[in-house]
Amino acid sequence: MFADKDICKRCGACLDECPFDLIVEDREGFPKLRPAAKKTCINCGHCVAVCPVGAVTLPEMPVTAGLSPAQCAPFDRELKVTPEQADQFLSGRRSVRTYKDKVVPGEVLEHLFSVSGFAPSAKNGQPARWIVTRTPEATRRLAGMTVDYMATNSIMPGVVKNWARGVDKILHGAPHVAVAHAPEDGFNPAEDCALAAAYLELAAHAHGLGACWAGFLMEVAEGCCNIRRELGIPEGHGVYAALILGYPKYRYKRIPTRRPVEIGWLD
Ligand SMILES: Cc1cc2nc3c(=O)[nH]c(=O)nc-3n(C[C@H](O)[C@H](O)[C@H](O)COP(=O)(O)O)c2cc1C
Repeated sequence: MFADKDICKRCGACLDECPFDLIVEDREGFPKLRPAAKKTCINCGHCVAVCPVGAVTLPEMPVTAGLSPAQCAPFDRELKVTPEQADQFLSGRRSVRTYKDKVVPGEVLEHLFSVSGFAPSAKNGQPARWIVTRTPEATRRLAGMTVDYMATNSIMPGVVKNWARGVDKILHGAPHVAVAHAPEDGFNPAEDCALAAAYLELAAHAHGLGACWAGFLMEVAEGCCNIRRELGIPEGHGVYAALILGYPKYRYKRIPTRRPVEIGWLD
């Protein structure tokens, strides 16, 4: 059963929310799923999440996992951030390039990745897969492989020179690096992975950790078989994001300015 008729108020919120109009009213005005849902439902869970009384359960179907209200975390209004808090949180995030010599516990990293899973993704495909270094040694090994590739292919000689004198401009001596990959033939793998990485970066910021995109590793990993092999990137997957992670050495006392955002208004 899609809606529990004992508690459903027939408010229509689930109908309004379905991105593919897969919910219709039955003769009594209760919501029911159209047969097309079997193929088209993307399991976004909006119908379950929006129901004010918890009457909606998405059944298990060939292409969806099914979802009951009991599986969903309640939205706690007490935890809602104010607009001012959100503004400062977002504008106060920085790309962190100096880290404490301290690894991040596995359970903390796992929690951050679980939050990143809530990033929007095309058709709720959630294609991002992550490979994460558990140790600073593994992180440094990847930095070294990146530099080797850059040196061989005459990419950014300044970065290579820095490495030779002990300065890591690739992964900034961070204890961890996380690389996102996804099937190349998905709907929007690059956007989906970038958004998952953006969520990961913000989740890290919220938990007192620092992060920074590792652009050199990302670029090199796409073309370097050794790094792809080291990371275990499956055939047919692209590397779409890489973030270093760790505890920041410094705290930022000010928020640097940014160019005014250009907006073209259309009436
Ligand atoms: C796709 C992408 C690649 C980046 N690559 C690197 C990188 O290789 N090394 C680095 O130190 N920062 C890198 N950054 C971080 C940017 O330099 C940083 O976001 C920018 O300077 C603004 O600073 P903020 O993030 O602290 O506001 C990258 C950012 C993005 C979005």
